[in-house]
This record gives sequence, structure tokens and C-alpha cells, in this order.
Amino acid sequence: MVSPLRRRPRLETFEDPEAMARRAAEIFREISPKRVVLTGGETPKRSYELISQLDMSWDEIDLFLTDERFVPLDDHRSNEKMVREALGGRANEARLHGFSREAGPEESAEIYGQEIADYLPFDLTFMGLGEDGHTASLFPSDPHHDRRNVMSFAYRPDRQGPWRTTLSLAALDRSSVMVFLVVGEEKADALRILMEGGDIPAAKVHPEGNFLVLSDRAAASGVARPKG
Ligand code: 6PG
Repeated sequence: MVSPLRRRPRLETFEDPEAMARRAAEIFREISPKRVVLTGGETPKRSYELISQLDMSWDEIDLFLTDERFVPLDDHRSNEKMVREALGGRANEARLHGFSREAGPEESAEIYGQEIADYLPFDLTFMGLGEDGHTASLFPSDPHHDRRNVMSFAYRPDRQGPWRTTLSLAALDRSSVMVFLVVGEEKADALRILMEGGDIPAAKVHPEGNFLVLSDRAAASGVARPKG
């Protein structure tokens, strides 16, 4: 049962991923955010590349990550590496707050949770969506995924993979604008459940302000068309 208090996101669907990325960059330009949270993964890369081409006051912008795989910064799995590559020099003109590697994953997450405290609420948060309904590093299989007593935490989704550090739902909810970026037919089920407010971590976010999903037609293929 979806709580009537839980607002559902507005869905904007585009012909293809490029059109969706252009809209994401347009939203960034319109909002001109100073405190931005960036999701990892493959989907947002093109959006970040287009955003990097915008003429903004980059030196006034603080950038954060929704989550990070606890691997060296030059490891292809690092979200910070992907963001730096996609944003190019803008990542250095702005202040990109990565998860510290000085300490272990749990201490790194704790430090990050303290660091973001001075930047809340976030002006704009980009989110991704996994096929299983995860977002950030909040996985359905992890009993902690709906922890709201901390702003950030670390855990290991499986024994083989790396530790992950992630913002919690409590931190992600502190977003004035939240925009999910979702492409591909493989995400259609997860997106349908997200739009219905079903039982997946991505549907448990409750941003303070505007709540948007940008998708391509393939990902939106499972979402019921609004009546009328
Ligand atoms: C990560 C992301 C994760 C991502 C989804 C979708 O660290 O991988 O934060 O939540 O957004 O897994 O990833 P794709 O965009 O690659 O499908």
C-alpha cells in the first residue's frame, strides 16, 4: 500500500537517451544549482557531459556523489572517476566532494555524512535506477537500505564485490529537486514500480521539493499512460 502522503514523481519521457540528457542539462541550467548530488552508473554520463558545456559559475558549485564503490580512484568502478571524466575540467572548477579513501569504508561514510551537513538541502539531486529497483547503493537485498538514522553508511552488498559507501534515504530526501535518469527496456519494470510507489529502495525516497523522472520511451514502456 502506498502512503497517500508519499508524492509520486512526475514522468517526462523522451524519444531517446540523447533527448533525455539534453533535458537533464536544461534543468541544470534552469535551476542553476549550487549544491548538486550526482549519481554514479552509466546512464548519467551523457547528461554530465552536456552539463559540463554550460556556462555556469562553476566556482560557486559544490558537487557530491550519491554513492561510491570503495575502490581506488583510478579504478573503472569508481563513480568519482566517472564523474570527473564526464565533467572534465568543470569537476576541478567546482568543488567535487568525493568519499575519503584515507580511512576505511565505514569511517569514510561517517565523515561524508558529517561533511554534507553544511550543504543541506541539496538544490538538485540526480538519481539512477537499477533493474532490481536499487538507487545509490541502497539495494533491496540490504536490510539497512531504509536506514534513516544516519546520513551515510557503508556496507558490502556481496562478499565478492567492493564495499560501498552511500548516502542514506534521509540524506537523499534533503533535496529541493530530485531527478531520476532512467533509460533502457531493462529498467521498465523497476520504473513502473517506482512510479507506482512500490516496495523498492528507489521508491522510498521522499524529496522535499520537486520530484521528476526523466526516461526514454523504452524504460517508460511499462508505465501506465495518465488517463485523459
Ligand atoms: C552506482 C549507482 C547506481 C546506479 C544504478 C543504475 O554506483 O552504480 O549509484 O545506483 O545509478 O545501478 O546504473 P546504470 O545507469 O549504469 O544502469
